[in-house]
Amino acid sequence: MRVSYGGSGTGGLTPDSLSGEPVWLDLFERWLAEGVSAQIPEPNAMVVATVDAEGVPATRTVLCKGVDARGIVFYTNHDSDKGRAIATHPVASATFPWVAMERQVHFRGPVTQVSREETRAYWTTRPRGSQLGAIASEQSRPIASRAALEEQAADVARRAGGVDGDAPIDVPDNWGGYLIAPTVVEFWQGGANRLHDRVRASLVDGRWDVARLQP
Ligand SMILES: Cc1cc2nc3c(=O)[nH]c(=O)nc-3n(C[C@H](O)[C@H](O)[C@H](O)COP(=O)(O)O)c2cc1C
Repeated sequence: MRVSYGGSGTGGLTPDSLSGEPVWLDLFERWLAEGVSAQIPEPNAMVVATVDAEGVPATRTVLCKGVDARGIVFYTNHDSDKGRAIATHPVASATFPWVAMERQVHFRGPVTQVSREETRAYWTTRPRGSQLGAIASEQSRPIASRAALEEQAADVARRAGGVDGDAPIDVPDNWGGYLIAPTVVEFWQGGANRLHDRVRASLVDGRWDVARLQP
């Protein structure tokens, strides 16, 4: 269970690796593309942490479905545990654990809902089965059995004209995108003898400050 890092030839992370505006975007997009090329599983999966009304943190994996100068976007149910936590404390962190690449990128910052237009644009790209599944699931609520869940899903599909129907399905009001607009982005690259490279970009008074951190 003890793995040595720094052997993959992907090193060379320094504060100068970050450039452009915002300073984290180019390198993040490059690392994501390298993860896709390396065919690591679900390279856009990220572990998102939120804090609930009692101050208790929770994490779960979601898929990042948008990256641009504003930040990173994921889609979920607004009435889910994470949705309710964000409504109370509109902040989150997100970590891309690219272990196979000996890399990690960490974001944190305020969270807002994306516009309904942006949500609708993404919703229409989803397969019909995924749209129906999102409507059928009262995410994070208990349900008596798998059979009850399938009955609920069949009921939603019936009312929408069937799983194979072609009538467009409206995006539900309680489903949409969240934007994490980072104030901190940290890149981590594994190095030999636990001397990993860490470079953190922090937004201070509207400017990105870049520093190397000790591992
Ligand atoms: C690889 C992977 C990707 C996932 N992607 C999403 C996603 O994009 N949106 C989502 O709502 N849940 C996604 N989930 C499920 C979440 O991890 C979680 O179980 C669900 O959103 C409920 O979380 P909550 O009760 O904390 O709100 C994914 C799970 C895995 C393992």
